Amino acid sequence: MYRDEFLNKKISDRIANQSVRSLRILESMMDFSSNDYLGIATQNLLSDRELDFLWNAGAKGSRLLSGNYPLIETVEKQIALFHSADAGLIFNAGYDANIGLLASVPQKGDTILYDQLSHASLRDGIRLSFAQSFSFLHNNLEDLERLLKKATGNIFIVTESVFSMDGDMIDLPLMVELAEKYQAHIIVDEAHATGIIGEKGEGLVQSKGYQQKIFARIHTFGKALGCHGAIVLGSTLLRNYLVNYARPFIYSTALPPSSIAAVQKSYALFPTFTEQRNHLNNLIQYFQSANCGFQILPSITPIQIVLIPGNEAVRNIATALQAEKFDIRAILYPTVPKNTERLRITLHAFNTMKELTVLLALLNQLSK
Ligand SMILES: Cc1ncc(COP(=O)(O)O)c(C=O)c1O
Repeated sequence: MYRDEFLNKKISDRIANQSVRSLRILESMMDFSSNDYLGIATQNLLSDRELDFLWNAGAKGSRLLSGNYPLIETVEKQIALFHSADAGLIFNAGYDANIGLLASVPQKGDTILYDQLSHASLRDGIRLSFAQSFSFLHNNLEDLERLLKKATGNIFIVTESVFSMDGDMIDLPLMVELAEKYQAHIIVDEAHATGIIGEKGEGLVQSKGYQQKIFARIHTFGKALGCHGAIVLGSTLLRNYLVNYARPFIYSTALPPSSIAAVQKSYALFPTFTEQRNHLNNLIQYFQSANCGFQILPSITPIQIVLIPGNEAVRNIATALQAEKFDIRAILYPTVPKNTERLRITLHAFNTMKELTVLLALLNQLSK
């Protein structure tokens, strides 16, 4: 018998406030929930018979020991070139990249200022750092400036370009202006912008031409790219620093060649997906201009938010939508602040206008 009864105390707290999480598999549903925005994973566009020999082989070690290999170095260079960065270092996941970067670069005496809606991986990295840290109000540059005035040491501003839980974007030019005024370094997590924002899906920073003004960009491979892993882009010195100090990079087995080959293939594919991005934009505009009966947040990205306050209320609506074969998930408190519980609907290049019309009608019906 496992002696694990003590774990029940915190699980019961979750049950009491209706926020207990469990793993589920929803099959044969219309996907309005995954991050596979372009359909690369769903449509199995990365399978490759020529690369079969790579499948199932591990990297055999961490990159600094026996796990480095030519393909991973080549792909790092190719991705850095695509994103107009001097260098890039691949991590096993976006989570690892954010932890590795933030826990190792800012030092004691430095200051990290981060958007209050920053992803858990950014916040966990910040918690591991010895620098002091303060959050600023979501997307609020006045609040950021208030904190910049008091900041000491090297200053880091941490933000997402497209926010994962709200779907909105930062005002990058104004943020860069502010950072320059206070000589701060900007770190941008482009997880939900990669593949989506910009003519080729190059991300927000590059689409605005600010790549030389950003200290570090994180592009993840698990969302629109349909793969797994992430890269930190920046200077060659930053890459060298991370190789020496980023613990998730140093103390973990490298991604296998099969994963890296898939990432390479996805980078050859997604920039050409102009039609898919156009269709996605049409779906986004349609969703934003329609009346679904509930309050929605403004968003020009595939992440669309329908606010339904209360864990029970939002869960009931999600269950009703799932009964109609729509894979849509409720985002509950404490993942989001109380009274901002929501449906997080993600739109994909493979969703049809017809599906969206039915979904909007269903939401309208459920709102009454
Ligand atoms: C903004 C953001 N950053 C980082 C991550 C973590 O990326 P990964 O799933 O590759 O660990 C996520 C994924 O949920 C995310 O939404």
